[in-house]
Amino acid sequence: MTGPLVLGIETSCDETGIGIVRGRQLLSNTIASSMDEHARYGGVVPEVAARAHLEALQPSIERALTEAGVTLDDLDAVAVTSGPGLAGALMVGVGAAKGLAVSLGKPLYAVNHLVGHIAADILTSDDRATAPLEYPTIALLVSGGHTSLLHVRDLTTDVELLGETVDDAAGEAFDKVARLLGLPYPGGPQIDIASADGDPRAIRFPRGLSKASDMAKHRYDFSFSGLKTAVARWVERAEAAGEQVPVADVAASFREAVIDVLVTKALAACEDRGVPRLLLGGGVIANRRLREVALERAAAAGVAVRIPPLSLCTDNGAMIAGLAAELIANGRGPSTLGFGADSTLPV
Ligand code: KG4
Ligand code: ZN
Repeated sequence: MTGPLVLGIETSCDETGIGIVRGRQLLSNTIASSMDEHARYGGVVPEVAARAHLEALQPSIERALTEAGVTLDDLDAVAVTSGPGLAGALMVGVGAAKGLAVSLGKPLYAVNHLVGHIAADILTSDDRATAPLEYPTIALLVSGGHTSLLHVRDLTTDVELLGETVDDAAGEAFDKVARLLGLPYPGGPQIDIASADGDPRAIRFPRGLSKASDMAKHRYDFSFSGLKTAVARWVERAEAAGEQVPVADVAASFREAVIDVLVTKALAACEDRGVPRLLLGGGVIANRRLREVALERAAAAGVAVRIPPLSLCTDNGAMIAGLAAELIANGRGPSTLGFGADSTLPV
């Protein structure tokens, strides 16, 4: 496998990710997470995340280089997530990337985090040979920081944002509902465990932005704050009535509501756009029930689903390096050093 040797830096949320690729070949992918430090707050605290990136960056870069068996001098380029994400967290990565690129005299590529998630799918490694990503494809990216639906006609030149969450991200909703059910952070895996013995049809929680009146304007947008409030009200009512809260049923019904909306809107986009392919990404894809429902309903709709391995679905530096390597292969020049961190960077 040939191609440019690129080191990618990802610091948009709570994961300090350093990845090294040679073209599409994944050489190393180190991830240091500050998740434990956020646990007692029940969610990511931007200031804490930024400080953790500052501490984790240098040792992570060294580890990634060692694991890839290369040195800084070998690199052809440096890549970094410039947005979207938490402003302070992004700034740490952007600053480090600029310093590294300038001191090494190497080109620097500023890339978009969401497009990076799509690029995760093209990476290959010794234990992962993948068929090339076919275009066009619809991509559904769900994590603690974002919930976005995209129409990808070409990874490097033509990615269209169809819709995104208007309030909480899907993972954030899992975290908040877990908290109100007395479950620890991060809530996604906890809700999954709690749901195991629950009935997903026990309680009919609202599907955000799914009513006919909402669909006209927000067909591809998501909203999870109303769902979170509905769960809170349901639990409060049960407690006020002196009933024992059936945590398994509440968790399973909540999970089903989130998954239903995600899969319904993603498949609607596939149908509307005549695109028989759906790519899934982001940390919430760890949810087995989500994968199950997506695969089942996509198969019924004649849509082929692609899911990268979980280590490439959660935030990581390899996807950022991989996207930059693709840009280089397509003749795109580096970024000028004037760019900054942009928390709302469009695709
Ligand atoms: O992509 P990711 O690792 O990082 C950031 O968002 O920064 O995603 C983490 C999110 C958290 O909100 C977590 O609760 C959620 O993904 N998550 C899950 C599951 N595992 C992690 N959500 C639902 N079900 C899961 N099994
Ligand atoms: Zn992400």
